[in-house]
Amino acid sequence: MAYSYMPGFGNDFETESLPGALPQGRNSPQRPAYGLYAEQLSGSPFTAPRGANERSWLYRIRPSVKHTGRFRPADFPLWKTAPNLNDHEMAIGQYRWNPASVPQEPTDFLSGIRTMTTAGDALGQSGMAAHVYVANTDMVDDHFFNADGELLVVPQVGGLRFITEMGVIEIKPGEICVLPRGVIFKVVPIDGPVRGYVCENYGAKFTLPNRGPIGANCLANQRDFKTPVAWFEEKEKPCRLVVKWCGRFYVTQIDHSPLDVVAWHGNYAPYKYDLASFSPVGAILFDHPDPSIYSVLTSPSGEEGTANIDFVIFPPRWLVAEDTFRPPWYHRNIMSEFMGLVHGQYDAKAEGFVPGGISLHNMMLAHGPDSSGYEKASHAELTPVKLDHTLAFMFETRFPQMLTRYAAESPNLQRDYIDCWRDLKKRFNGTPEGDWS
Ligand SMILES: [Fe+2]
Repeated sequence: MAYSYMPGFGNDFETESLPGALPQGRNSPQRPAYGLYAEQLSGSPFTAPRGANERSWLYRIRPSVKHTGRFRPADFPLWKTAPNLNDHEMAIGQYRWNPASVPQEPTDFLSGIRTMTTAGDALGQSGMAAHVYVANTDMVDDHFFNADGELLVVPQVGGLRFITEMGVIEIKPGEICVLPRGVIFKVVPIDGPVRGYVCENYGAKFTLPNRGPIGANCLANQRDFKTPVAWFEEKEKPCRLVVKWCGRFYVTQIDHSPLDVVAWHGNYAPYKYDLASFSPVGAILFDHPDPSIYSVLTSPSGEEGTANIDFVIFPPRWLVAEDTFRPPWYHRNIMSEFMGLVHGQYDAKAEGFVPGGISLHNMMLAHGPDSSGYEKASHAELTPVKLDHTLAFMFETRFPQMLTRYAAESPNLQRDYIDCWRDLKKRFNGTPEGDWS
């Protein structure tokens, strides 16, 4: 089945899955059509400035108070929340991991989340966590919402169907999906076992970065973001709702599906985006610009230009710069960089950084092309070259990313990653020409 979407980023959408279900000219009529309940979902304080004010009105079979009973604690031991300090004994360093393997036993999206790093403080609504997920089963009658932050999902293997209370989103590798804080959903792997990455954003909602002198077009364009039309089910059978709240998990039993929103309107809603529709802008004469030119989404921190999180991609693109070391330069950074690879090769690391893998270059820890990458790029003939069939990405945050015990003790940790720079030669020999032998 093909699902329908509405184009635009942060629009004031309206959608109904039964004719006349959406009240017109008012939000809360005395008796809504079809006997529905009207309910507001606030994604910003009531008094947020107009441009940042986000809320939606949901018209549903039962109000959300009926979608929770008494809560009891639930256990998702590999899903960690910041602050999560002193979780392991490993020293600082540049780290890289091979892909997580999908377990043999039945694992759904929630129990398949494994936190790699946490940053900032969820209780202070700043920072993030970087997770990988692996799953092989449907959540069936389980549902979830996250009070701690929104979830940016980056699939790497297999498609996912997110059945949310505001509509259905399907994504495959190469696309992303954002699930706002508080929105109820369940996840169905579409075509077998799945793996991917999740950025849990405790801070300000992701928005589009300013383009500055680039102007009104390119990078991620508003119309390419897709929000689902309303979809509901009337399912009267035992279901569960799991809630993540201040780093802890709770579950409640209900006797029906909470996915019962027949119509809604507003600007607080889930969305998807195909990363192939990102229009990259880059150097057309010389030098390698900062990777911020590839920012798809940004979560502002309140300090201008200092993001809580930037979601940056490294998509297929032409390299044409003259007299330029074309791969990313050597770098030390106040921001902390968590990278993943959806498919292909990353230009600074031809080997070792594999699809599904992860690298972490934390605050002020040096990184850059490996020895063979440097050798190749410093001797390459600089004809136009297309970097094709590649898609890497970065969750970059102003906060240091603290490793979890799971990440520190993972058998997938590449203990020899640091050796990728071992063979970088001293080229300085006192002459202006240097030693490029
Ligand atoms: Fe960097």
